[in-house]
Amino acid sequence: MAVKLAIIGGGRMGGALLRGLISSGWASPSELVVVEINEAQRQRLEAGHRGLTTVSRLSTRACEDAVLAVKPQDAEEACLAAGVAGVQRLLSVAAGITTSDLEKWMGTRALVVRAMPNLPALVAHCAAGMAPGSRASERDLAWAAGVLGSVGTAVEVPEKLMDAVTGLSGSGPAYFFLVVEALIEAGVRAGLDRETSTTLVRHTFAGAARLLTETGESAEDLRIAVTSPGGTTAAGIAALEDRQVREAFVAAVEAATARSIELGTPGAKATLTHR
Ligand SMILES: NC(=O)c1ccc[n+]([C@@H]2O[C@H](COP(=O)([O-])OP(=O)(O)OC[C@H]3O[C@@H](n4cnc5c(N)ncnc54)[C@H](OP(=O)(O)O)[C@@H]3O)[C@@H](O)[C@H]2O)c1
Repeated sequence: MAVKLAIIGGGRMGGALLRGLISSGWASPSELVVVEINEAQRQRLEAGHRGLTTVSRLSTRACEDAVLAVKPQDAEEACLAAGVAGVQRLLSVAAGITTSDLEKWMGTRALVVRAMPNLPALVAHCAAGMAPGSRASERDLAWAAGVLGSVGTAVEVPEKLMDAVTGLSGSGPAYFFLVVEALIEAGVRAGLDRETSTTLVRHTFAGAARLLTETGESAEDLRIAVTSPGGTTAAGIAALEDRQVREAFVAAVEAATARSIELGTPGAKATLTHR
């Protein structure tokens, strides 16, 4: 059977994509190859997916399409090897690596798409921004959206906004976890024991998230629907508005976006890599 896709880097993100592509039916294990330098990780992946081939290096003309899921500092070496092996179309999820870097390293007339997924890819619910390289067509973007669609959803943005995507949805799960932590603590301060507060908050958020995604209603409409004028929720929301919670989130996204831009400058990237 022909190999449909090579996944270069079989760690957390590559492994999540592998699971998503197989479980969504996008490909069978035998139609995928994982390029992974870590032998123990190769064995784990093969044990977890019967029929999957893993290799330490892609052989020449093994596959035309690939996903790049190595750490940013390993991206150049992995791209050079992919280019030599004849990969022609590449979807990269490496944070901060630009499409012009990818095109330069692939060393061919490679078609590249750059994406920024987030951690919920591990449970097939990621939100990803993606941007085409200079030669990628609508067809290539549709292909990339299909691959990313196996672990969540992907939206196209101009490449200059990838830092904003990083600051919003890339860092977004951490903002969400912080709010969950704060609410659990608030429940404890209101007199509930920690276990009870944790159970109530976790399920409140899981239920609210499902309402948001499954009803298709806006967050504003859902909020208004559960906030009776003069009621308990209205009192709680007023306390949040008084403390300028909305502005705090704007500041968080601005700060994360600015940091992403900063890390994209060559000097800063080197500092982070060697820390
Ligand atoms: N995890 C996330 O939530 C997330 C979110 C958004 C974007 N991303 C991006 O996804 C990429 C991968 O992140 P990750 O968390 O999955 O990293 P990871 O768990 O470290 O996985 C990367 C894997 O690639 C292997 N590798 C390194 N160089 C290689 C090469 N030349 N060829 C083949 N395999 C190679 C690594 O082996 P060794 O460990 O032996 O080096 C490792 O097993 C990063 O660029 C990151 O920016 C991740």
